[in-house]
This record gives sequence, structure tokens and C-alpha cells, in this order.
Amino acid sequence: MSPQLSLLSLLLLHIAILPSLQQKLSPVDLAALADIKSTLTDIPRSDFFSSWDFTSPDPCSSFAGVTCSLSRVTTLSLGTGFTDSPGLAGFLSPSISNLTSLNQLILFPGLVTGPIPPQLGQLSDLRVISLTNNRLTGTIPTSFSSLKSLHTLDLSFNQLTGEILPSLTSLPELKVLILASNSLSGELPGVSTQLLHLDLKKNGLTGPLRSLPLTLRYVSLSDNSLTGPLNGLQSLSELVYLDLSMNKFNGPIPAQLFNPSLSSMFLQRNNLSGGLPSRFVGLTSSRSYGEGSIVDLSHNFLTGELSPILAGVELVLE
Ligand SMILES: *[C@@H]1O[C@H](CO)[C@@H](O)[C@H](O)[C@H]1NC(C)=O
Ligand SMILES: *[C@@H]1O[C@H](CO)[C@@H](O)[C@H](O)[C@H]1NC(C)=O
Repeated sequence: MSPQLSLLSLLLLHIAILPSLQQKLSPVDLAALADIKSTLTDIPRSDFFSSWDFTSPDPCSSFAGVTCSLSRVTTLSLGTGFTDSPGLAGFLSPSISNLTSLNQLILFPGLVTGPIPPQLGQLSDLRVISLTNNRLTGTIPTSFSSLKSLHTLDLSFNQLTGEILPSLTSLPELKVLILASNSLSGELPGVSTQLLHLDLKKNGLTGPLRSLPLTLRYVSLSDNSLTGPLNGLQSLSELVYLDLSMNKFNGPIPAQLFNPSLSSMFLQRNNLSGGLPSRFVGLTSSRSYGEGSIVDLSHNFLTGELSPILAGVELVLE
């Protein structure tokens, strides 16, 4: 090895080792982790907390699910995430909010019960919260409207109740909002963000469709009790996936919705009426639907002829 090379590798070695030697996890974060562990347990056959040994000199490198930067915990993933793991039980400790540098909080599927600690709203660096597929109850904390950095919120497959507040859906950085399969009620809030992905299916939402942000690519509002006409959707030019099935929408389908870039459109089991559009606004024959597209309009009150523009589409009408 040349002298330069060995010097370089020594230097690199130093850079790699120094942080873990010099930066012990902050005592506040260590106490919070101890509290978090005390309210959760592995369900038999889950093996997550076995690495959480509080006599360990360096929890940042030895604890499963914990990563740190500058002596602070920055990501916390609770549970192994293996699909065959039964996950964790217990409840979420409010002490999570003492991890004030946290930017990602994940709870993998399991049987965690109780409310979402409202104190999480103090974690202003949080970009990702995913607490899917557990048994969380209560409302989505109103304090979440303070999470100005929040990019992704996934609370799907829990037992959450109450309304979806507009202060949540209008968070400035929010791109992905997944609250599917809960017991949320009330009207759809206005959404005034740069949202890309909105999934509120299988809840008890009522009232009309509100205007949605033009940035949306994925919208599922399936299996709620939404009513009224399909207004405002025609301007969603980025939309690729639209599922409004199993609601109580009525009136005609806006012709502009038959747009080749919208490759999946599910409008079945509503109260839609009127004819299928015979001409498609803005379309030429070179831009017809591609193979693999699917449009399901079944179980409505529609009449009319199929347009040749839908030739390549798997179309379900009955
Ligand atoms: C978290 O912070 C609060 C307020 O600063 C403090 O009272 C509490 O003891 C802390 N929790 C832990 C586990 O250190
Ligand atoms: C469905 O449409 C029919 C005919 O347009 C109307 O009589 C009926 O009240 C509608 N039902 C609902 C649930 O909106």
C-alpha cells in the first residue's frame, strides 16, 4: 500500500469511528427510550426489543430501530417490520416527544392500543409518521397541525374516530396522507397543500366532494358516504388513480375524467346517472387508453354507448 493510500484509509477510519466514540446518546433521549420500552412489549414470536440493552455503551448503534445524528435520536422504528412478525403490544409513551430531533417515527403492524400521544405535535422536525395497522383509538391529535415539516402521515388500519381537521390537511409540506380503514367521520376537509397521495377509504365520511389540490396523483375515497356531484375533478391533470367507489355520488360523470393519463378509475356502486360521453374532450385517437388501464362504472344508473377510445381498457359496466 502506498503511503498516501494508507494515510487516506486511516483518515477514513477515523471519520467512521469518531462519531460513535465522541458522541454518547444524550441522557434525555436515553431516558425517553427507556420509557418507550416500558410501555411496549414484543408479542410472542416477535423479537424486537431484545437488542435494547440499557447497559450498552452505544444505543445508537446497538438498538434495533434507532438511528442517531449528533447524539440525538433521529429515526425510531418500533417493531421488526418483518411480515411474519406479530409486532408489538402495549401503548405509545408520551415520552416519544422528548426525542426532539426525531424526524421519522414508524410503528410496524401489531396490537398497540390507546391514543396517539398529543405531545407528538411538539416534534417540529418530524417528516414521517407511520403508525399503521395497530389498534390505536381516539382522535388524530389537533396538535398535529403544528407539524410544519410533516411530509407523510399514515395512520391507516386503526380505530381512530372524530373528524379530519383542515389544519391537518393544509400542512405546508404534506405530500402523502393515508387515513384509510378507521372510523373517521364528518365532512371531507378542504385540502390546500401540495398533496400527491390521498387515501381516506373505508371511513364514515359524509358530505360533498371538496375541491382537491391539482398536484394529486392518487385519490381513494372509496367506501364512505360522500354525496353530491363529481365536481372539481376534471382539473386534476396529474391524476393517475381515482377510486370513488361505494359512496352516494350522483349526477353525470364529467367527460373530462375520461383522460388517458388516468389509468385506474373506479366509480362503481354510486348513484351516477346520465350518458357516457360520446366524445372525449381534448383527446385524439393517438392518445387512447393504454392496455392495462381499468375503468369500473358498474352498479350506477348510466346509459349510452361505449366510445372506441375505451377500446384497450378493461371496462366494467354491469
Ligand atoms: C420527558 O420530558 C418531560 C418534560 O421535560 C419530563 O418531565 C419527563 O420526565 C421526560 N421523560 C423522560 C422519560 O425522561
Ligand atoms: C339515486 O338516484 C335516483 C334517481 O336519480 C334518486 O331517485 C335517488 O333518490 C338517489 N338515491 C340517493 C341515495 O341519492
